Order: sequence, then C-alpha cells, then structure tokens
Amino acid sequence: MKNSYNLLEKLGLYKMFLKATPSKALVIRINVIIFAFFLVAYCTLLLRPSSPSAYQDKVASSSLVRCSLRECHHKAAESDVKMKAVLEEQGGNQMISPKKTIARREKPKFLQEMGIRGMKIGAINMEDEDLSEWEVHGDTIVKVPFEKVSDLFEWKHLFPEWIDEEEENEGFLCPEIPMPTFEEYGNLDMLVANLPCNFPEKGWARDMFRLQVHLIVANMAAKKGRRDWYGRTKVVLLSKCRPMLDLFRCDDLVRREGDWWYYEPEMVKLEERVSLPMGSCNLALPLWGQGVNEVYDASNIEQSTRKPTKREAYVTVLHSSESYVCGAITLAQSLLQTGTKRDLVILIDKAISLPKREALVAAGWKIRLIKRIRNPRAEKGTYNEYNYSKFRLWQLTDYDKLVFIDSDIVVLRNLDLLFHFPQITATGNDGSIFNSGIMVLEPSNCTFRTLMGLRKEITSYNGGDQGFLNEVFVWWHRLPRRVNFLKNFWSNSSLEASVKNHLFEADPPKLYSIHYLGLKPWLCYRDYDCNWDVADQHIYASDVAHKRWWKLHDSMDVKLQKFCALSKLRKRDLEWDRNKANKLKINGDHWKINITDDRRFVKQDLL
Ligand SMILES: *[C@@H]1O[C@H](CO)[C@@H](O)[C@H](O)[C@H]1NC(C)=O
Ligand SMILES: *[C@@H]1O[C@H](CO)[C@@H](O)[C@H](O)[C@H]1NC(C)=O
Ligand SMILES: *[C@@H]1O[C@H](CO)[C@@H](O)[C@H](O)[C@H]1NC(C)=O
Ligand SMILES: *[C@@H]1O[C@H](CO)[C@@H](O)[C@H](O)[C@H]1NC(C)=O
Repeated sequence: MKNSYNLLEKLGLYKMFLKATPSKALVIRINVIIFAFFLVAYCTLLLRPSSPSAYQDKVASSSLVRCSLRECHHKAAESDVKMKAVLEEQGGNQMISPKKTIARREKPKFLQEMGIRGMKIGAINMEDEDLSEWEVHGDTIVKVPFEKVSDLFEWKHLFPEWIDEEEENEGFLCPEIPMPTFEEYGNLDMLVANLPCNFPEKGWARDMFRLQVHLIVANMAAKKGRRDWYGRTKVVLLSKCRPMLDLFRCDDLVRREGDWWYYEPEMVKLEERVSLPMGSCNLALPLWGQGVNEVYDASNIEQSTRKPTKREAYVTVLHSSESYVCGAITLAQSLLQTGTKRDLVILIDKAISLPKREALVAAGWKIRLIKRIRNPRAEKGTYNEYNYSKFRLWQLTDYDKLVFIDSDIVVLRNLDLLFHFPQITATGNDGSIFNSGIMVLEPSNCTFRTLMGLRKEITSYNGGDQGFLNEVFVWWHRLPRRVNFLKNFWSNSSLEASVKNHLFEADPPKLYSIHYLGLKPWLCYRDYDCNWDVADQHIYASDVAHKRWWKLHDSMDVKLQKFCALSKLRKRDLEWDRNKANKLKINGDHWKINITDDRRFVKQDLL
C-alpha cells in the first residue's frame, strides 16, 4: 500500500501541495485570475439575449453556462464574486497563540496507566496549561506552531461545487491551507492535539479551522510519527466532539476518557488519506493526461496497485419494493460486461420475492439478506422512510472495500480503479456535497454503530441517506463527473443537450456510467424517455440515454429481460401521463409517438 502514496506522487497530482509553500501574493494572484475568468464569463452571460426583468430578478441565482465538447458546467456567479472579496481581504493571518484558560486540564489517566516515560510528544494547538502536567512526567513536549487558516476561508472554497476537472481552461487550483514545516521535526513518539469544535453551532462540521488541525495532526503522524511493530503510531486528541471519521477511523480508537480520545491509527491507511488532495477542489483521480485529447492511461495505475483480492466488491441495495429489481439486474450485467473480477453483492430485504431473488442471482449478484433501517425522522409511509438501509453496507466486514452503486445506474466502462481510493470517494452533487450514487466505502462494524447512533442527531437535508452521509463524511474525495454521470439537463439549452447526448451515445463509451435520474427507463415504454410526458421531469429527459439503456437491456438473456416487464399499474400511469401530455400539448411532442413496445401487451402477473 506504500505504493499508493508513491503512485499518487508519480501522477504529479499533488504537486500543488508538495511544492514549497508559495507566497501569499502568489495565492492571491492566482485567485484574481480565477476571478477575472468568472468576470469575463459572467459578462458573456449578461450579453446573452434574455429579458431585462428576468435579468434583474436573477442576478443572484444566475448560472454561468460553459459548454465544450467534453462537458457543460454551471456555477453560481454570486459566490465567485464573494470569493474574490474573501481572498483580497485575506492577509491579516496571525500565528496561533494560546488563549488564557481558567482551569488546568488533567492529563488523561489512561496515559499514566500506560506508564510510558520520556516520550517525545508533538503538541498541536495545545494550550500551555493543558500540557503543564505532561512535562512533569518526564516527557519532552515539542510545540508545533502553525499559521491559523483565515476566518474568511470557507469550506466551499476547498469543496467547490464545480471544478474545471477536464482542464479545458484554467485547470484546477486549490486554495492553500497553511501547514507547519514538517521537515523541521524529528521523529515523534506521540502527538497530542486540541481539535476545535463548535458543536452544536450550525455548520460546525464544516469548520475550516477544525479541518486544518485534523490535517496537521494526520500529516504529522504520517510523516514523523514513530511506528510500532504493527505499523501504528500514537495520537491523543482533545475534543468535545467526535474527531472526523474521515481521517481518524473509528476502528483506530483505543480509549476514550471524557474529551480525550486516544487513537493508534493504522498508518498505511492514514498515509493513503493524506496523500489525497486536501479538498474536492482537486480530483482524486485524473481521467486525462496532459493535453486536451490525451486520455489518461489508467492501466498504469492498475499495474502498480495490489492485485485484486477477494476482499473487494461492487455492491448495491434493494429494499421496501421490487420496482428496482430490473435496474439491479441490468446493473449487474453491465458490470460483468466491463470484465471485472470483483464480487457483486446485493443487499436485499424481505420485500424481494423468491423468483426475483433467483433472477438477481442469475444476473450475477451474491445475495445478502438484511433488515432495512428506518430513518427515525422520516414520516411513516413516506418514500424515504427506510433509506438508511444503506448503512448496512458497513456491516459487510468480510470485505475491506466496497464500491457502492445505485440500482438506477448502468456501468459502461470498467471501474475497478476506484478500489484504489479510500472512504469516501465520490462525484460531486451540488454545493459541497457528494452524490451517494457511486461511492467508495470501507466496511466497519464500528462505523456502522456510529452511523446508527447518529440517526436521531443528524437531520438529512433531503431525508435520504445522501444528506445524512454528507453530514458525517464531510471530507470526501472527488471523482470525475464521468464516473457517475447524472442524466439531467439543468440549463435547458440546446448546447447542453447536444454535449451531453453526445456523451450518452458515444461508442466506445466515453462515460464510465450513466445515472438515470427521474423516471427510470424500465418504467417507460422503450419507444421514448417518458420523462418527456411529465412537465416537471423534463430536466431528466433524454432519448439518447434512454436508448443506451435499452441497448444494454437487449444484450441480456431473454430470461432476465422478463423482469423488466411493466406492471398493470405502471401501464395505467404511463397512459395517464401520455394523455395529459397530449391535452397540455407539452413540448417535445413525444406523446405523438406510436408505441411499439411489446411490453404493453405482456401481463406481468404471468411471469
Ligand atoms: C462485525 O459484526 C458481525 C456481527 O454483527 C460479526 O459477524 C463480524 O465478525 C464483525 N466483523 C468484525 C471485523 O469484527
Ligand atoms: C429513498 O428510497 C426510495 C426507495 O428505495 C427511493 O425511491 C428514493 O429515491 C430514496 N430517496 C432518497 C432521497 O434517497
Ligand atoms: C426550455 O426551453 C424551451 C424552448 O427552448 C421553452 O419552451 C421552455 O419553456 C423552457 N423550459 C424552462 C423550464 O425554462
Ligand atoms: C401512429 O399511428 C396512426 C394510426 O395507426 C397513424 O395515423 C399515425 O400517422 C402514426 N403516427 C406516427 C407518428 O407514426
């Protein structure tokens, strides 16, 4: 696994961080350039024909739309302007200095019990009073000063909604988090750090200062921590709230005493994490080599990573209803077509009948029966009542790593590369959050218990698992959009439609997967994407992507295809939508298309 670190270095991914700390002036200059770019793009937008009143109403929410052969992006203009202001005002950073405390804090008892004396201890963000007892015991305290991250540096600067991931224009630039000069220190036997915690203040989990101290501790441990026989080092954290699971794994927690948390992190895993970009402002995985048209040669990575083991699997979840069975079958078949040798595991609950289970096995899945998990905050009978069932993924401890894939996704290119990345690696959704449709995760009973314990405390912004997981795992790693390409069109422009449809139909595929948002292709007639028939689903409508799904469907065994039949109820709804579209003369005129799909006449009950 050591090679993971080297590998990432080789890729030159993190050159931005490995470089000697650039001057602040440089950082500001870079950001002024970014600002200038957005200013130009913004003006371009203003010059586009649009009604003046609409413009006045929409200054704050207007989106920049940029399209090229590769992708369309949008970006809220307002936040960029703010960012500029932030970075210009920056500069008054102070070295962090200990504040006065009232009471002296006692050294945790477990350390005294350990009876280790004469250790060299690195102290990060600790106040003198908190350490006074430590020196008495014959330990040497090495203070690690660092420049505190500016209060104006916000989470969204490190986790922006959009990045120029395909390097069409400016490439990507991460703002810099000040770090101590690690090279100045010798080996340390233990690290002790005070982690800032503003809980329960709003937004406490996405506090830059908190992240900064976490990252300093993690980097210092990885670079200077003395390792024991088992490849672990000693880290003592003082924190009111649970240290970030993303960096300090819950399995590595050895003792807890009040606000003291004692970890013995598995250093290989910690190294892997700190070798990644500090935020999703940079890709964890490049798909492009230098130069615009050169596709990154992924075989390099595959060769240098460890051999596939039996302890890695693709996994999906089905619960509460059978409406995604066809999706899961198609997903398995699409994965197998990419030539993967990893296990395919599906978690299902009792709602899935025996014949459906047999079909899932025939499609390639290994079945694990689960009890679904209720969201205690969801109302009874709502569509997302049991969405926390995904937490069961963490109980698959006979695997070290999983790539979770939603059942409304089909995979077009091999994704085995993802097993190289740590929890949680995913694609962006909106704002600073990741899309939980495809994500890399590491099973652990301890993490599972933690998630279960947080169910009442955390409010998910959308009532689903995505909102929940985004509150727990805030420090995620960005995959290119093409890995989990959302089938939606947010700009309502023909340019966006043509760029995206080009990607949907490309053969050999350019996308790694398509995520079928909106009404699912197997719940439409095959003749056209039924999202056209419903006004508020138009943003999800693409006949090209629809056709792509049906191509995969047709390549499956006929016996499996049967599980994509339409229920009586669904046929009725489809006809209802078509009639309504006809009456309203909804644009697109898809309702005029005569249906040739045989599924119209197949009775599902006869299966
Ligand atoms: C996780 O818990 C399950 C029982 O709930 C147990 O069978 C499994 O061995 C545990 N895994 C580990 C790695 O301890
Ligand atoms: C919740 O789960 C249901 C059923 O599996 C699914 O249809 C729905 O999209 C999920 N909602 C969210 C917000 O994840
Ligand atoms: C999208 O554009 C079409 C014409 O190009 C227009 O008729 C329609 O109202 C637009 N939809 C939305 C939601 O703006
Ligand atoms: C659909 O079928 C009807 C009658 O069978 C025919 O008149 C009409 O032209 C067809 N429409 C299209 C778009 O093919």
